Amino acid sequence: MSAIESVLVENRVFPPSEATVQAARISGMPAYEALCREAESDFEGFWARLGRENVQWTKPFTQVLDESKAPFYQWFADGELNASANCLDKHVGTPVENKTAIVFESDDGQVTNVSYKELLARVGQFANALKAQGIRKGDRVIVYMPMGVEGVVAMQACARIGATHSVVFGGFSAKSIHERILDAGAVAIITANYQMRGGKEMGLKVIVDEALAMGGCDSVKSVLVYERTATPCNMVAGRDKTFAEALKGQGTECRPEPVNAEHPLFILYTSGSTGKPKGVQHSTGGYLLWSKLTMDWTFDLRPEDLFWCTADIGWITGHSYVAYGPLAAGATQLIFEGIPTFPHAGRFWEMIAKHKVSIFYTAPTAIRSLIKAAETDAKVHPNNWNLKSLRILGTVGEPINPEAWMWYYRNVGGERCPIVDTFWQTETGGHVITPLPGATPLVPGSCTLPLPGIMAAIVDETGKDIPNGSGGMLVIKRPWPSMIRTIWGDPERFKKSYFPEEMGGRLYLAGDGAVRDAKTGYFRITGRIDDVLNVSGHRLGTMEIESALVSKTDLVAEAAVVGRPDDLTGEAVCAFVVLKRSRPTGEEAKQIANELRNWVAKEIGPIAKPKDIRFGDNLPKTRSGKIMRRLLRSIAKGEQITQDTTTLENPGILDQLAQTN
Ligand code: WT7
Repeated sequence: MSAIESVLVENRVFPPSEATVQAARISGMPAYEALCREAESDFEGFWARLGRENVQWTKPFTQVLDESKAPFYQWFADGELNASANCLDKHVGTPVENKTAIVFESDDGQVTNVSYKELLARVGQFANALKAQGIRKGDRVIVYMPMGVEGVVAMQACARIGATHSVVFGGFSAKSIHERILDAGAVAIITANYQMRGGKEMGLKVIVDEALAMGGCDSVKSVLVYERTATPCNMVAGRDKTFAEALKGQGTECRPEPVNAEHPLFILYTSGSTGKPKGVQHSTGGYLLWSKLTMDWTFDLRPEDLFWCTADIGWITGHSYVAYGPLAAGATQLIFEGIPTFPHAGRFWEMIAKHKVSIFYTAPTAIRSLIKAAETDAKVHPNNWNLKSLRILGTVGEPINPEAWMWYYRNVGGERCPIVDTFWQTETGGHVITPLPGATPLVPGSCTLPLPGIMAAIVDETGKDIPNGSGGMLVIKRPWPSMIRTIWGDPERFKKSYFPEEMGGRLYLAGDGAVRDAKTGYFRITGRIDDVLNVSGHRLGTMEIESALVSKTDLVAEAAVVGRPDDLTGEAVCAFVVLKRSRPTGEEAKQIANELRNWVAKEIGPIAKPKDIRFGDNLPKTRSGKIMRRLLRSIAKGEQITQDTTTLENPGILDQLAQTN
C-alpha cells in the first residue's frame, strides 16, 4: 500500500496526554482556537502584538502589514532591528547569558560547549573581521561551510553588520556555487579548508577555487577560510585569508547595525520548475519573529530543554531552527557535524542519550534509513539507549508514511512524545501547518492544522475553494510575516511562481497538492504539483537535472527526468536519455549510466544523481514534439501503460524504455 493510500485509511488518533496539555504554552485545543480567532478578528493587531512581544526593535514599528505593493507584502516596514542582537545581545544581563548556547559534537565524537556570552564575543569578533575586509551593510556573502559553531558564527556575523548571507550546502558543486556567486553578486566567500563527514576529510576550499576559476567572479574580493583540519589547502595571496589571520587583532565588541525590518537577512537558493534555482529572499523582522515564535509554539520550548535539529545550515531548516530560532529563543541546542550512520547507525540515539536531548527534529528519510538499519542490526536499534530525556519529536521535509511515524512514535518517543509533523518550505521561512504538542490530537501522516494566523486553504486552478475531502492545491490566503519577499533579481518570476494571475494574483501558491479530512479538516500533503522532486527531503528541479545531462554535449542528445516513489528516499530521480550515438545495452549501458551519474554530481551535487538511467532511441513525444512526461512517470514506476497513446508520434518507444538496464 502506498503512503498516501494508507493515510487515506488512517484512523488512529493520538491526543496529547493531560499532563502534556497542562504543562504546554498553548494548552489544549481551546487555547489554539482562541489564538486563531484573535488572528481572524484583528489580523494586524494579532501580528503587532506578537511582533512587539517576540522581537527587540531599535526603532519600534508603527505599520504592521503594508499591502500597497502586493504581492510584494511588507511587514513592520518602518521598524528597525538587528537579527544578531535579537539572538545574542538580548540575553546579556539575563540568566541566558551564562547558559550554553551550543553543544557541538564533531564527526569523531568530541564535544565543545559555547555559552551565549562566548558566542556573542565570537560573533562580534568575526563581524569586525568582515568589516575589515571591506564588507558592508547590503553586501552579499556566500557561506560554504561544514556543520559547526563557525558556520553559525559566520551567518550571525553577517547579520550583525547587515550583510546578506547566502549559504550554499556543502554538498553542492563548484558549478552551483558559481551560479550563486553570479546571481547574488557576492563580494566574499566564507568557507573551510575541509569538512569531516563519516571519518573522511573532504575538500571544500578546492571547490570554491574551482567555482571562482569559472569566470565572471570579479565581485568576490575576499575568501575567508576556516581551518577545520590541519591539512593545508591552496591559498591565493591577496584574496584568501585563514580565519586566524582575519581575526587577528580584532576586538570582540561590534555594535549591531540596525537595519530596516524589510532588509534582506538572507537569500537561499532552491529549486523551481525551470532550470535556474530561485534565490528566495527573506526579510529581517518578519523572519526573525517567526523563527523565534515557532520555537515557542511548535516545540513548546522551555528553558531547560536541549534542542536538536539535525538539519544542515545549508537548508532553510538549518537557518530557522539552528542559526536563528534556537538562539532568539534562548535555547541550548546540539549541533552535530557528522552523519547519522557513522561510526554506526545508532549514532543519533546514542547522542540523544549522551546529551539528554529533549526535543529532536529530523527528516522522515533519516528515520526510514535508521529503521532499516535497526531491522538488520539489533545493536543499532534505539532500544539499546536510554531515550527518556525526549519529550517532543518532530519531522520535516516530506510526507512521513504512517509506518515510519508509528515506529518513531514507539521506538524513539516511547509512546510518550508528541510528533510534530511540520509542513513548510524555503519560501515560508518557518512552520506553517503543524500540530502543537500540547494541543493537537495527532494523526500519523498528517501535518494537521495551520498555525494561528496562517490562512491555509485548498483550491482549484482558478483559486476557488475545494470542499474538505477532495484534493486540490495548497494555498495561503493572507500574507504572513516570514513569507518570501521576492526572488532575488527576478520579481516577475516571484509573481508568476507564487501569486499566479489565473488564481487572482493574491493567493500564495505553495506548489503542493493537499487534501483536508472531511471530518477533522486536517491537512494531508500529497506531494508537489510542479516539476519539482523531493528526494530525501531535498528539493530538486527535474529541469535542472535535465540541463545538467544535456550539458554533456559529447554524449547526450536529449534527456527527460521524472520522479518515482522510493521506499527510502521518498522519491527517486529517474532519467530517460537519448545519446548522440546508438543506444547502449548491457555492460556498456551500465558504464555510460555511471558516467552520467558522476557528471550530474559534478554539475549539481551528489544529491541530484539519478538513481535510474534508461536509454532510448527516442523519447515519447506528441506530434507537436512535446515530451509526454506522464507516460515516462508510469514507465519509471513500472506501471502498465493504460493511458491513451494515440497522440504519440512514436508509440513503439514505450516498450524500449520500459526495459530496465
Ligand atoms: C517542500 C519544501 C521545510 C524545510 C525543508 C524542505 C515538502 C516539507 C513537509 C511535510 C509533507 C513536506 C513539500 C514542500 N515538505 N515539509 N511535513 N509534509 N511535505 O524545504 O526544500 O523548501 O521543500 O518539502 O513538498 O513544498 P524545501
